[in-house]
Amino acid sequence: MTSALSITDMVVSFDGYRALDTVSLDVATGESFGIVGESGSGKSTLLRAVAGLNGFDSGTLTVDGRRFSGRRRDTAFYRTVQMVFQDPYGSLHPRQTVDRLLLEPLAIHGFADADIRIARALDEVGLGSGFRFRFSHQLSGGQRQRIAIARALIVEPKILLLDEPTSALDASIQAEILNLLEQARKDRGLTFVMVSHDLAVISHMCDRLAVMRYGKMVEKMSVAELRGRDFSTDYTRELLVASEGFVRPADRSG
Ligand SMILES: Nc1ncnc2c1ncn2[C@@H]1O[C@H](COP(=O)(O)OP(=O)(O)OP(=O)(O)O)[C@@H](O)[C@H]1O
Ligand SMILES: [Mg+2]
Repeated sequence: MTSALSITDMVVSFDGYRALDTVSLDVATGESFGIVGESGSGKSTLLRAVAGLNGFDSGTLTVDGRRFSGRRRDTAFYRTVQMVFQDPYGSLHPRQTVDRLLLEPLAIHGFADADIRIARALDEVGLGSGFRFRFSHQLSGGQRQRIAIARALIVEPKILLLDEPTSALDASIQAEILNLLEQARKDRGLTFVMVSHDLAVISHMCDRLAVMRYGKMVEKMSVAELRGRDFSTDYTRELLVASEGFVRPADRSG
């Protein structure tokens, strides 16, 4: 099995504080891997270190067969790896049109056929060409997140890093966006690494997951093991109990 993403003993410190403490992770091509854990446990730091948004002090990072270190990433890296953030308000410039927002990555990566690609991208995220010349500040949160996803997908990446991509959205919109992501993953054979505080979301979207605490990965397991409550740490049990809505009625007897 080839790895899309491989990390060994990664350490990230901020002023001496280890936000990520010797984390290792292997994600297979086409796999959807979930990351859960309480606030401040290092989930975003891990994704940001992969994306080069923060550096890492030691350890190794291999993405799509290439080794990376520190913060240095090249254009080819961002062609392969795209990130979608929690807050679609912060991640899209409000005074740009959808057209501009989608043209930019196409220009950076030297794609031709911008018209066709933009139309296709808007269709794929369920918006249609009517949105092409709207400004991002004229869009709802859910529509913005669809544009953020279109912007990521338009460069035909292999790996998506998703940091709480739906937690700023209403429950009904959240389900639509998750379905859209899942469909894109199937259609394109994408690899996902997805952070969520919601175990129900992880259980729906992922094959395996890791539980983080104080910068460490304290447990890795399959979603089947999670559903069967077959986990080894008390911490995971606490987290599962704390995640309301995950423990469905059928699970409660057991
Ligand atoms: N740029 C930074 N400078 C200093 N400290 C940072 C920086 N980024 C993150 N940290 C610290 O690293 C730790 C992990 O932060 P991180 O954002 O990875 O947590 P998280 O698991 O994503 O939490 P949340 O669920 O709230 O998003 C926290 O203590 C945070 O304050
Ligand atoms: Mg975070």
